[in-house]
Amino acid sequence: MPDLAEHLVEQPHVEWGNNRPFAFSRLSDEYAKALEDLALAKEQLIKTLPVTKGWETGAEKSPTTARFASFSAFHLSPITLPLYFAIHETYRHLLQAIDQKPTARFIQCWYNIHRSGASLVRHCHAYPFIGTFSAYADGSLTQYGNAKELSGEDVVIEHVPGQLVITTGPNHYHHTSTWNDPDRARVTYAFDILGANQWNSNQIFLPFDI
Ligand SMILES: [Fe+2]
Repeated sequence: MPDLAEHLVEQPHVEWGNNRPFAFSRLSDEYAKALEDLALAKEQLIKTLPVTKGWETGAEKSPTTARFASFSAFHLSPITLPLYFAIHETYRHLLQAIDQKPTARFIQCWYNIHRSGASLVRHCHAYPFIGTFSAYADGSLTQYGNAKELSGEDVVIEHVPGQLVITTGPNHYHHTSTWNDPDRARVTYAFDILGANQWNSNQIFLPFDI
């Protein structure tokens, strides 16, 4: 395996939109494909895990998302380590850009598989930082805004393979466009970065930063 840093083909940078910082970096196309393949290979296994409370009705159309609290993507294969590394690098860059000092943080990371006709409806996560990695979501859009309602101020981000995005979480609503490719699933990894005060033993929160 190449050095972890060699998978990171675009170094982190921060762009501001709608008063929110968005940190971007990019992993290689080959690496994105490897994580797409991993997600699909593990899908049947993930579907044997308990559905996360509140996701009972979404388990059909979002089979892996609906079980996000039952697994960590980082436990599925050692090939996820470059992703962990890239998230950490990008997160540290974001902290610097917003003038925050590193502190004790944990991470939960799952993946989403969406087939033709599926999407994620507008929602937000109650964690300080949220992010997503595009394994294969070409042409898909995620729209971010500061309210439950859509706004012309919303930031729309197009998914390209290998793209990693981290932004602030509280009240940062987002939803995805509907996936329309009948031949290839949309595969993204998603994660939350949280403080020690939010850790609990019902979800898989791994040590992430100090
Ligand atoms: Fe989300």
